[in-house]
Amino acid sequence: MPFVEWEERYLLGVEQFDDHHKHLVDLLNKVYGMFLLHDVAEGKLQEILDSLADYATYHFAQEESWMREVGYPKQEEHILEHKRFIYKLYELNKQFHEDKSYLTLELVSFLRRWLLEHIMSVDAKYGVFIRRLSPPGRDAGSREPGTTAGTQNGEKRPNEIVDFT
Ligand SMILES: [Fe+2]
Ligand SMILES: [Fe+2]
Repeated sequence: MPFVEWEERYLLGVEQFDDHHKHLVDLLNKVYGMFLLHDVAEGKLQEILDSLADYATYHFAQEESWMREVGYPKQEEHILEHKRFIYKLYELNKQFHEDKSYLTLELVSFLRRWLLEHIMSVDAKYGVFIRRLSPPGRDAGSREPGTTAGTQNGEKRPNEIVDFT
C-alpha cells in the first residue's frame, strides 16, 4: 500500500497541474519506500529527496507563472506558501546530507501532510477560480495553463473579476 494513495478529490481540473501533483505524490511514495528500506548507503534516498525538491521547485515555478498570466488574485499568499515549503525541503536535504539519521518518519509525514493540504486547500482555490472563468458547458479541465480564458465574446478578463474568495 502506498504512503499516499492518489484520490479523485485531489484533482483540480487543470490537467497539467494535476499531472504534476500526481508526479509529486509518486516521488513522495518513493521517498517513503526508500526510507522504510533504510536504503541510504547507496545514496538512493538522497537522490530521490533531491528529485522531490527539484520537481517541487519546477512545479511551483510553473504554477506561479500561470497565476501571474491569468491575474489570479491570491497569488501573493500562494507564492509565500511555496517559498516556505521549498526552504524547508532544501533545509531537510541539507541536514540529511550531513546526517543520514536526520530523516525521520515525522519529517516524511510532514511532507505528506503539507503536500496534500496544499493541493486540497491552497491549489484548490485556483481550480475554483479557473472554473468560474469558464463559459457554461465548457470543460475547465481541458484548458491548458498558460492560456487565458474568458476573453472572447465580451467576457471579463481574469483580472477584472473581483470579490474572489
Ligand atoms: Fe501545486
Ligand atoms: Fe501551489
